[in-house]
Amino acid sequence: MADSADNSFDVVILGGGSGGYACALRAIQLDLKVALIEKAKIGGTCLHNGCIPTKALLHAAEVADAARESETFGVLANFDGIDMAGVNKYKDGIVNRLYKGLSGMITQAGITVFEGDGKLVGTHTVEVDGQRVTGKNVVLATGSYARTLPGLEIGGRIITSDEALTLSEVPTSAIVIGGSVIGVEFASVWKSFGVDVTIVEALPNLVPMEDAALSKQLERAFRKRKIGFKTGAKFTKAEQTESGVSVTLESGETLEADLVLVAVGRGPNTSGLGYEEQGITLDRGWVPTNERLATNVPGVYAVGDLVPGLQLAHRGFAHGIFVAEEIAGLNPMPVIDSGIPRVTYCDPEIASVGLTEQQAREEYGDVETYEYNLGGNGKSQILATAGIVKLVREKSGPILGVHMVGDRMGEQVGEASLTVNWEAFPEDVAQFIHAHPTQNETLGEASLALAGKPLHAHS
Ligand code: NAI
Repeated sequence: MADSADNSFDVVILGGGSGGYACALRAIQLDLKVALIEKAKIGGTCLHNGCIPTKALLHAAEVADAARESETFGVLANFDGIDMAGVNKYKDGIVNRLYKGLSGMITQAGITVFEGDGKLVGTHTVEVDGQRVTGKNVVLATGSYARTLPGLEIGGRIITSDEALTLSEVPTSAIVIGGSVIGVEFASVWKSFGVDVTIVEALPNLVPMEDAALSKQLERAFRKRKIGFKTGAKFTKAEQTESGVSVTLESGETLEADLVLVAVGRGPNTSGLGYEEQGITLDRGWVPTNERLATNVPGVYAVGDLVPGLQLAHRGFAHGIFVAEEIAGLNPMPVIDSGIPRVTYCDPEIASVGLTEQQAREEYGDVETYEYNLGGNGKSQILATAGIVKLVREKSGPILGVHMVGDRMGEQVGEASLTVNWEAFPEDVAQFIHAHPTQNETLGEASLALAGKPLHAHS
């Protein structure tokens, strides 16, 4: 806890999640005097209730599947079940180690941390536990929370991802409302843990924000894994009994399970924080900003999940760095959502960057696409995975979007991101030699094919 008598700073950051702490670290590097205000733990949703713990669960799920399917590879192992205490110990160990490392970095950097509930009481003043902290600049970085729907009150057997991360037992069955990122990741973990899962998604496809080819591939893979899903199906009500929950859909159909996970999006944490009282414009709770992340109030910026757009930790990092550099007068390049890579860590993984085919057609008219099947890739066959890499290019122009599905394909998103953000042509990418045998070759193969010289590809 800070006890400095002089509570005036160059930058006061409200919220110590990905956006807030990245801003603090960059601002202090730029010789600004920085205060970081956090009511819970530095690291925010990503470290404590999001990215890191979920990906630990997903890795445990992968290990379970490897044990279960070991005979495919001629290895004799027995899968005896999931010990949730052991899974949680492994998961919490990772979170705690990263938290310790991050806290050490923040302290060592010389950032003044105020622990407590902060509230904006002036356009440039935040009150924390009776102390007033003022900043020449204020950065709002209070993040997001798991939303729910009318008639779907969180409690008991109806949970959000927050509770799903701390279950002490594996449920027998689960209904997941929402078939986007959080929904498919938890459905994937639970299926691997032996749970009977059904996803209910209102739109016509799973992962509806992705290119249609990825939704199709994922649905095929989930069918094979016997993960149940109902698309174009809207939730209407849920009733808890002593032994389970009964969910009614708009069609009148009812489903029963031990647990219901609500994964229908995340809303901005902006209420009760004094934002509106201080004249900051809100749009249905979100904080709209211009391209330079400035709000309508001079000297007040917003970063991360509360700014409308993609809700991703790495977008938060980039926002935080951008605002620190902006305040320091470095005139940084704005963060553009369409260039941000996205990975969904279900099995099989989904990774994408840039425009979907449909978006590219709307924006550019004539486009060319190519789908490379992982069936032609040696490393993917060794891993026994199926999937595709789909490239979308402007007709005779640069690659506008890369869309991938298959085990471990998330790790390929780096090259995909460079390709799209550097506006590379398939002919350029085809020139680069991709190491064999890797899954990375699939990106080279897809570019070779689009450049008119396919190698391991059926035309
Ligand atoms: P989302 O906003 O991505 O998807 C919510 C889904 O719920 C939509 O597909 C929507 O059609 C569906 N839905 C809404 N009302 C419904 C109803 N009445 N019945 C059935 N379905 C309904 O939200 P999600 O998946 O909860 O994720 C929240 C945020 O967290 C997202 O922005 C996501 O990108 C981020 N996140 C990112 C991860 C990653 O990068 N790997 C992991 C987890 C979350």
